[in-house]
Amino acid sequence: MGFLIGILSAFFIAAITFKIWYKSIGGRCVSKKRLDGKVAIVTGSNTGIGKETARDLARRGAKVILACRDLQRANAARDDIIKTTGNKKVEVILLDLGSLDSVRNFVKKFLGSEKRLDILVNNAAAVGLENKISKDGMQQELQVNHFGPFLLTLLLLDLMKKSAPGRVVVVSSRSHLRGYVDLSDVNCEKKYPGFLKLYEIAKFYNVIFSNELSRRLQGTGIICNSVHPGAVNTEVGRQLPAILYSLVKLASWFLVKTPEEGAQTLIHAAVSETVEGTAGKYFVDCKEAEMNKDAVNKDLARKFWEKCVKLVKVSQQEVKCIKI
Ligand SMILES: NC(=O)c1ccc[n+]([C@@H]2O[C@H](COP(=O)([O-])OP(=O)(O)OC[C@H]3O[C@@H](n4cnc5c(N)ncnc54)[C@H](OP(=O)(O)O)[C@@H]3O)[C@@H](O)[C@H]2O)c1
Repeated sequence: MGFLIGILSAFFIAAITFKIWYKSIGGRCVSKKRLDGKVAIVTGSNTGIGKETARDLARRGAKVILACRDLQRANAARDDIIKTTGNKKVEVILLDLGSLDSVRNFVKKFLGSEKRLDILVNNAAAVGLENKISKDGMQQELQVNHFGPFLLTLLLLDLMKKSAPGRVVVVSSRSHLRGYVDLSDVNCEKKYPGFLKLYEIAKFYNVIFSNELSRRLQGTGIICNSVHPGAVNTEVGRQLPAILYSLVKLASWFLVKTPEEGAQTLIHAAVSETVEGTAGKYFVDCKEAEMNKDAVNKDLARKFWEKCVKLVKVSQQEVKCIKI
């Protein structure tokens, strides 16, 4: 019995020590930059890291659009952000990234009501969705995590350029290091790689897209970077099999940041003066970090981009400020 208590105590102390250490290296955005008069969009901001990012941008004075698919949850998040920041310029616009029509409707509504866009945070994501081709012909998890945000970003660029300088932040994950792109099967239709590998592939797509976009944006005044928020205790993975999700939640208590801590690297990439002039980089814990080597392969990135343009059916007439 004494031996068992000893083992449990040692495990508990090790876990607490790890937690303190992990929090200490987590990084915080130290910029005090105000965003009065600026407009920001944060996707998937009804909960988790996106909500805390939106709250911070609102606290800095920006008008913040919560781009979410569940209006009830999004309205509750809006009310909470207004209450805690005192900034009433927080609005919700419906966006389901799993539907290209919804992306286009969002953009139409946004462009119909706003005269500028300074910050776009592509935060929303889902993991563990079933192997299903959407009505737009895409592997649905890839559509939510990459193809939908790809179309969204392109359709907003012209307004961003008019409002420049501007920033695009693409939220990826360290798991992109295990991802890849197969140019003969970008949509992962020919060979379904399993739900966890699919997430890694989507997060790789985020980084290679951010790199290629940053090259195409040169000279526009808009910069784009990708980030890993860290391991964060959120609802991510709630679509996973129940047993797996329970294990993730259990591990979460020991291993991870709070959503407010997880938001720091997104905020850093979106506002920090130290990021000015930095594009096509990947940030972890508010610092530049090494990315997957294939994500810096320019030839691969260009070919991947061209496949994405075809898949989402976006035309050059719709995006004037860069060559697509
Ligand atoms: N948590 C981590 O440890 C971790 C680690 C590395 C990277 N990340 C990345 O961090 C970002 C935020 O994740 P999180 O941890 O905050 O997850 P979360 O709590 O699950 O939040 C994800 C957000 O994305 C939204 N979303 C999902 N599907 C959508 C769709 N079809 N259309 C529009 N919005 C959709 C969700 O809306 P609903 O509430 O309606 O589902 C929710 O608002 C993601 O890009 C994730 O990959 C997280």
